[in-house]
Amino acid sequence: MAVILETKRLGKQYRMGEVTIDALREVDLGVQAGEFVAIMGPSGSGKSTLLHLLGGLDQPDSGEVWLDGRHLAALSDDDLARVRRRQIGFVFQFYNLLPTHSVAENVALPLLIDEQPVEAHRARIEDLLAQVDLTDRANHRPGQLSGGQQQRVAIARALVTQPAVVLADEPTGNLDSAAGDAILGLLRRTCDEQGQTLVVVTHDAHAASYADRVIYLKDGRIVHELGPDENGGKRSTQTIRAVLTELEA
Ligand SMILES: Nc1ncnc2c1ncn2[C@@H]1O[C@H](COP(=O)(O)OP(=O)(O)OP(=O)(O)O)[C@@H](O)[C@H]1O
Ligand SMILES: [Mg+2]
Repeated sequence: MAVILETKRLGKQYRMGEVTIDALREVDLGVQAGEFVAIMGPSGSGKSTLLHLLGGLDQPDSGEVWLDGRHLAALSDDDLARVRRRQIGFVFQFYNLLPTHSVAENVALPLLIDEQPVEAHRARIEDLLAQVDLTDRANHRPGQLSGGQQQRVAIARALVTQPAVVLADEPTGNLDSAAGDAILGLLRRTCDEQGQTLVVVTHDAHAASYADRVIYLKDGRIVHELGPDENGGKRSTQTIRAVLTELEA
């Protein structure tokens, strides 16, 4: 398998007056095409910062991000915008839905931005709405939905262009366990069936148990990593949680 996403000694600092926060320090991470990676760690450990840098939404202070053979910092603004549009799907912690547009229009938005004909993708939009269990909400506005329903719209939107890489920040944070499992199952299938690459930030060890690999951040550094067990199987929720508990202690 080829590495599709790679960071090299990635660093990010936030300066607030006299104080400098090292949000990320020398992060070396390689993600294989088709891999599902979960990022865990205590609040403030740098998870969202890392996700933003991976998607080219923010620039590092040191080190590099490579996506599909391209060094993001070396791209022109236009090329970076094109890479983001074509190759990356984002699910943000706050869903960034357009309040004046319907659910179906919000899901179709990445296609519109990429100037693709929405009509040609109608069946895909309907299929995604069904998979996130929102068929009967297609014509509602985001303000008429619950938080969990809005979150599911954001997930359908991230998948609509079938991007090579999906970056998701707490995609099941607002969902009960049944809805969360449905979403995690959907994400897992996009990896297994379409070879999509997933990087998912989560606090939830059960959500992380769907991943092929769990990366733990603390104080901006990768401090632990859990790959498959000796038989190549997935790690249990308990095993994943035990490492997190140790880090938070
Ligand atoms: N725009 C910003 N300006 C200043 N400091 C920031 C900014 N964004 C993040 N930070 C700081 O950088 C560190 C990492 O933040 P980040 O949002 O990446 O954490 P996180 O692991 O996603 O936390 P959470 O689990 O609470 O979402 C924190 O100490 C945070 O306060
Ligand atoms: Mg965060």
